[in-house]
Amino acid sequence: MTTDRGQWSSKLGFIFAAAGSAIGLGNIWRFPYIAGENGGAAFVFTYLVCVIAIGLPVMLAELALGRATQRNPVGAIEAVRPGSVWKFVGILGVLTGVAILSYYAVIAGWTIGYMISSALGKPIDFGAFVSNPVAMIFYQALFLLLTIAVVSGGVEGGIERWAKILMPMLLILLVILIIRSLTLDGAMRGLEFYLKPDFSKLNYNVIISALGQAFFSLSLGMGTMMTYGSYLKKEDNAVSSGFQVAIFDTLIAFMAGLLIFPALFAVGKDPAAGPGLVFQILPDIFKALPLGNLFGALFFLLLAVAALTSTISLLEVPVAYFVDEKRWTRKKAVWTVGIATFVVGIPSALSLGASPFFSGIQIGFLNKTGFLDIMDFIWGNFSLAFGALLLSIFVGWIWGADRALAELRQGAGDFSWQGEGWKWLIKIVCPVVIFVILLNLFI
Ligand code: PFF
Repeated sequence: MTTDRGQWSSKLGFIFAAAGSAIGLGNIWRFPYIAGENGGAAFVFTYLVCVIAIGLPVMLAELALGRATQRNPVGAIEAVRPGSVWKFVGILGVLTGVAILSYYAVIAGWTIGYMISSALGKPIDFGAFVSNPVAMIFYQALFLLLTIAVVSGGVEGGIERWAKILMPMLLILLVILIIRSLTLDGAMRGLEFYLKPDFSKLNYNVIISALGQAFFSLSLGMGTMMTYGSYLKKEDNAVSSGFQVAIFDTLIAFMAGLLIFPALFAVGKDPAAGPGLVFQILPDIFKALPLGNLFGALFFLLLAVAALTSTISLLEVPVAYFVDEKRWTRKKAVWTVGIATFVVGIPSALSLGASPFFSGIQIGFLNKTGFLDIMDFIWGNFSLAFGALLLSIFVGWIWGADRALAELRQGAGDFSWQGEGWKWLIKIVCPVVIFVILLNLFI
């Protein structure tokens, strides 16, 4: 991607960038911990339903609007309905990008800390690490600086080339680790927790968490896929690309669960441990491997890269807005947004023990404790779902599902009955289901 309106050099360029955005901490950190908090398999099942019935249709809507208008989210909406209040949806996306990035960078920073500690063979005590204010802010700042460096330098050169090598490596390493995890004593109970649904555990919390996780993991609801779709060529097949991204993304999340839960039950830890879950269990898995430190360091390196291709896309949305709409230079936009994000993220960095106030702050009815957890719920869950609700109404009814479908059909062929099905999903199913789920939050 370049400062001026570039296009992906190839269809693979888009798929790698979009899959890079989708695959990240959401798959390997967030998916297992949210599944663990929400009873395991019943959540996993609900999640899959959300991805297929809601996530995929919204993904195609974002790609269609982005490619048709060739603009950032605010500009895209302005292009369809100039001067209307719908512009707010784009602005919300810009704000959500900053907010998610602010705490995402904190967790991404942990991966660097863990990578260094594995490489040095000095195990980290999770509790002591996350309650150390200097370490938390240092790694958060470091990760943001990495993101800023890449986004200001242009995406296509370095990062795409690295992602093409490192993401497949992540996949291979996951397979090796899963085999080790599944062969630990007592692993089967974990597998059962993860895959054998007990639908009596299904409740409102499970449903809203699954819906939010689907948007978070697929990078939907704030215009990321719209922005990436805007660099697609007309002859590219947006439909098959969207499907491929969703399939990769879901596969990696599913594999992360296969890695975490068997090991977790084997060592007798609590699946509902919250945001620290994955970081507390992974060292146990590496310990059970020959050359464990090496595997550990490599795994955290790959996880850091996966996180980086996601933070890039989170920063890219606000940056594209300031560059396109406010005529800022790319450099000014990247640094201003980057520094603002750092400041907004400080309370999150201090909320796992370093500051008693930010660690203890609570939203009772949501069952969330700590600033980071609350930010993750408000922005990573609610705001993305709300954005997706408005986007599906906008594409389905304001821009018009017929126009959107005509855009999708360019380069994708006719897919006639599926297209009709998609129109129905984006006009009726997505808005109604998301609305009902969000409404329940307030009752
Ligand atoms: N999808 C990313 C992940 O799973 O880690 C997080 C993310 C990136 C969410 C970009 C939203 C977004 F717009």
